[in-house]
Amino acid sequence: MLAKNLVWLFFCFALSGNTLTTSCKKEKTCKTSRTLGLKTSDCYKMDLKKFPTCLPPNVEVVELSYNRIRKVEYDDLHRYPYITHLYLTDNLISKLDDDIFKDSTSLETLDLSVNALFRVPPSIFQLPTLKTLYLSQNMNINVAESLENAKPILQSTLTKLDISYITEDGYTTDFPDFSDLPLLAFVNISGDQFNYLSPRHFAGLCNLQILANSNATAEFENDCDCWKINRWLAERKVVFTDFQCPNNKEGMHLMCNFQNYNVHCYADCIDDQIEFDDLEAFSKCMEKLQNIQFALYLKKVWIWIGVAVILIFFLSIIIVYIKWRKNKQKKRLTKRAKPLIRPPLAIEHKDQFQLMERLND
Ligand SMILES: *[C@@H]1O[C@H](CO)[C@@H](O)[C@H](O)[C@H]1NC(C)=O
Ligand SMILES: *[C@@H]1O[C@H](CO)[C@@H](O)[C@H](O)[C@H]1NC(C)=O
Repeated sequence: MLAKNLVWLFFCFALSGNTLTTSCKKEKTCKTSRTLGLKTSDCYKMDLKKFPTCLPPNVEVVELSYNRIRKVEYDDLHRYPYITHLYLTDNLISKLDDDIFKDSTSLETLDLSVNALFRVPPSIFQLPTLKTLYLSQNMNINVAESLENAKPILQSTLTKLDISYITEDGYTTDFPDFSDLPLLAFVNISGDQFNYLSPRHFAGLCNLQILANSNATAEFENDCDCWKINRWLAERKVVFTDFQCPNNKEGMHLMCNFQNYNVHCYADCIDDQIEFDDLEAFSKCMEKLQNIQFALYLKKVWIWIGVAVILIFFLSIIIVYIKWRKNKQKKRLTKRAKPLIRPPLAIEHKDQFQLMERLND
């Protein structure tokens, strides 16, 4: 991979070195610095219309929020293979190609909020290191469909997803099936209007800690589904706002309790059982979660083993070198000492004194 990138870089420089430098003179210069140990290019609010081409090739954080970029393509990202954080909030991006993230193997945070995207490429959910994804305020974007097309996702590292305010007034969207994203701990669905919701939709979210759902509305096939969801989330200590459930059914009693500084209420629905399928989906998610966590743990262990091996290697080189120098010194000493053992008769008094001292040592 690295070799390939280097060859490519070389090619690009060789072929377009001249045009690059001349067009770089025309391009607005973003301020580049080292922030928190990461090479950062700050192009915030610079009225850019295109993805910049003259950033340092080893840039890691690219801040492009509040510009007028309409298009981002494979070549734009391919030029900077080490980007870990890319902020593109509040631009005019309306289209992303399917292959755009093909070489983005370092990307951890991607902010595409407040753009004009209506289609998100499924490959976004297959990024091998992505942890945080912001898609909020892209009207009627097809998150659920895209996630479906991305499956199977083998080892998703996504933990934070913001899809707030993605439905236009009067429109609804399907709630995405998150069962292939078992690490998800934070989901923001504020202001969204969903089609039918049921406990099934949350069964595959076994690591969920915060569901930001203020102003989110949903339809329910039956009233009890709504109560069941509230209860399911409360029992799993998720921080959320109760969905507004209808309670006008006859014989329905409300029960409320305090949890996480919130009051959660639920009704005693007659068949208030969690479906077997939902419980099974939850335990499947737990299994996947543990597998991914174990794989991440192993990766860390291997990195530490690698570091240890390198350290031991250098230490042994140092030890061998020190020994070699000592040996050399010894040899020099014995060489010099030899003739002194039987000093010539004409040795001076001062020299003899020095010799005695050295032998005593
Ligand atoms: C969720 O998104 C909304 C709208 O984008 C925002 O106002 C809110 O602060 C977010 N919630 C959290 C917990 O970040
Ligand atoms: C929810 O909607 C109300 C009224 O439209 C608005 O004032 C409030 O800021 C919204 N809350 C969030 C978190 O989006």
